[in-house]
Amino acid sequence: MSRRPLIAGNWKMFKTRGEARDTVEQLQQLLGPSLSVDVVVCPPFSALSAVEEVIRESEIQLAAQNVHWEDEGAFTGEVSTAMLSDCGCRYVILGHSERRQFFHESDAVIHRKIGKVLTTELTPVLCVGESLEEREAERANEVIHGQLEADLGELTATEASRIIVAYEPIWAIGTGKTATPEIAQNVHGLIRHWLGGRYSAQVASGIRILYGGSVKPDNARELMAQEDIDGALVGGASLDAHSFATIVKESG
Ligand code: PGA
Repeated sequence: MSRRPLIAGNWKMFKTRGEARDTVEQLQQLLGPSLSVDVVVCPPFSALSAVEEVIRESEIQLAAQNVHWEDEGAFTGEVSTAMLSDCGCRYVILGHSERRQFFHESDAVIHRKIGKVLTTELTPVLCVGESLEEREAERANEVIHGQLEADLGELTATEASRIIVAYEPIWAIGTGKTATPEIAQNVHGLIRHWLGGRYSAQVASGIRILYGGSVKPDNARELMAQEDIDGALVGGASLDAHSFATIVKESG
């Protein structure tokens, strides 16, 4: 099954509305029409609407970086799936390692969020990945399997076929240390194998698995050439429209 590549720019806690608008306007100009890959930007909540106004008529799509699992309620500081859809979001990142590390999001919480998102039209982008200590202790595969098991749990095959997975080794995020194409392909292959065993070979072959962690214009092509790498979740290099557009072009 051929999987259309997806390149997502995770802006994290960067950019005011004006800065976000400028970036996405530049991006639109640099990319032009008729994109051969899915291009997604993930601004902070405060800039979602401003970005949506700019990209409304374009092929660039919108994602949020987090969401709550309840429809509404007394949850100070949180946003719901309906609020994200209302802002024009099509995707939502879940379980990013920064959420796990700095905001103590557990696999149980991520599992609830995935379940909720799958009842809506939003597509969850589930992030998994090991720390440096875990890799050095040769526990990377075990950790990733554990995350998949706990975060996806007992989803049906139909539900699972709607998710996107992002492999993001923590030691590669924001460090300039990219996983080699071989390491990344190896883990992507393992993830697809796990999905095949859990759901079905057909479901596994349709799920897009993105790589994230210091993706830059000069390493994108080599990573994207790997059989089981179907796109990228780009942090730092997505903040600049030129470098993000180059990554998109290298991935097409
Ligand atoms: P990075 O971040 O590209 O800056 O390493 C990736 C991510 O955290 O999604």
